[in-house]
Amino acid sequence: TAEPGGSGENAGADDGVITLGFSQVGAESGWRAANTKSIQDTLTEDNGFELKFSDAQQKQENQIQAIRSYITQGVDVIAFSPVVETGWDAVLQEAKSAGIPVILTDRAVDSSDDTLYESFIGSDFVKEGEMAGEWVVEQYDGEGYQAVELQGTTGAAPAIDRKEGFASAIEGSDVEIIDSQTGNFTRAEGKTVMEGFLNKHDDIDLVFAHNDDMGLGAIEAIEAAGMKPGEDIKIVTIDAVKDGMQALVDGKINYIVECNPLLGPDLAEVAQKVVAGEEVEKRIVVKDEAFDQAAAEEALPTREY
Ligand code: AHR
Repeated sequence: TAEPGGSGENAGADDGVITLGFSQVGAESGWRAANTKSIQDTLTEDNGFELKFSDAQQKQENQIQAIRSYITQGVDVIAFSPVVETGWDAVLQEAKSAGIPVILTDRAVDSSDDTLYESFIGSDFVKEGEMAGEWVVEQYDGEGYQAVELQGTTGAAPAIDRKEGFASAIEGSDVEIIDSQTGNFTRAEGKTVMEGFLNKHDDIDLVFAHNDDMGLGAIEAIEAAGMKPGEDIKIVTIDAVKDGMQALVDGKINYIVECNPLLGPDLAEVAQKVVAGEEVEKRIVVKDEAFDQAAAEEALPTREY
């Protein structure tokens, strides 16, 4: 495994300040905004960090460029949330050769070499998909439901894993996915894709959206088509950001599985340990809850994001 703190001359924070280069996926969703805020609010000067932050606008090439720039600048630690799962080995190898430790947050990379990063902090996306599917089966099995799926960004870990988890949970039930397309985790694309589904199928009972924002876009499309979201067409989403929770309270969404975006504190702790040469856990799983309407009503007033 990679040596804690990295083994090259760049590792460590000689001046007592940890310079951390963070490459964010983008600003595609309410979840992402909350995640960015958590990172920026935690990795502050007061906490001993100098944060270099860049937004990749959902493009892998931008993230690779940002990581290369952090390597050139000789930061103490690089952290990033990979927009897609594959294609990272070369740049991660460059970081390793430069002795700069890498921490993954939110999304995993698909690599056979786990020495390329120190730790992966984030939710279990397969489980999130399963939790959503299990609730759907519990509520609607036996009613011959036809479901459509709004997938996250193609190739992204949460899109791959949530799809897999949901599919495995509904297996053996009579809930059927009749169509599935990416809405890129955005509200605008969620709406456009849902409009397409509504034009193509006149028998949609349920939407499974891989995040709240796409579900909120679907609500707009369903309302524009003269139907009632949450009643005529049931909606299940993932994230539990404030706008999603409000729609759940309003009865327009039926169930939300949480994905906790507040990863800043865990990232700070792991970065400090890595720089100090301490062992860190390779996988830190963030716990998620799930909300029906009553639970959302209770949680919303004190919701942080
Ligand atoms: O990787 C986490 C996912 O990315 C969130 O569920 C989604 O809203 C975001 O865009």
